[in-house]
Amino acid sequence: MNIAIDGPVASGKGAVTKGLSIRLGIPALDTGAAYRAVTLFLLDHEIDIYDEKLILMNLNRMDLRIYMAENHDVRVFTQGQDVTPRIRDNRVSLAVPVVAAYAGVRDYVNHAIAEVASQGNFILEGRDIGTVVLPNAEYKFFLTASLEVRAKRRKADLDAKGENLSLLEVMQQVKARDEQDINRTVAPLRQAPDAIYVDSSNLTLEQTIDTLAKYIKL
Ligand code: CDP
Repeated sequence: MNIAIDGPVASGKGAVTKGLSIRLGIPALDTGAAYRAVTLFLLDHEIDIYDEKLILMNLNRMDLRIYMAENHDVRVFTQGQDVTPRIRDNRVSLAVPVVAAYAGVRDYVNHAIAEVASQGNFILEGRDIGTVVLPNAEYKFFLTASLEVRAKRRKADLDAKGENLSLLEVMQQVKARDEQDINRTVAPLRQAPDAIYVDSSNLTLEQTIDTLAKYIKL
């Protein structure tokens, strides 16, 4: 049984997916982590994120690998190095929608995801899971929240990492990233027609997990 969870920036997908994964005993895979690892590699190697051709030439030497950790977290490696601790830096967040818009990058990442996902049942979380990656998933959810709530959540994440931005700045960044994901040509962020829509603006994390869990019959 596969479960697909899609939604915009800071919609709570990560925390909800992890909670659901623990509750149902089904491993979870955060596909955004893979796009972030690719982006971090480009930034680290000073490869221009707008140079699609150069990026595609560099994918072969990246050796992207995704591993599931025991605590239900995903760990991502490039060139044998665990880059997980750095993939959520804000400079990666700002660049990732540009990189994730390239068809060649999406093929590369989807291949790495398929390798892991073929090993069993998964909860997959991302932007195009219900529409492209797992169109036949047994359960599909589209998780969202108001822009203000999402910006507040992301600001709290950044504050905890010592990256202090104003709420207005974070709100502008969240909005800009959503627009990039929604307006790209390849696999844009969309609610699958058969996905269940969940707005978590007025729900706690536990309530959101409860809402999703109610639909799932194991
Ligand atoms: O955690 P946050 O909501 O900031 O985003 P994420 O899930 O880590 O995803 C980071 C970025 O990767 C997204 O903004 C998309 O541009 C891209 N992404 C994608 O294109 N397709 C996916 N299945 C997952 C992520």
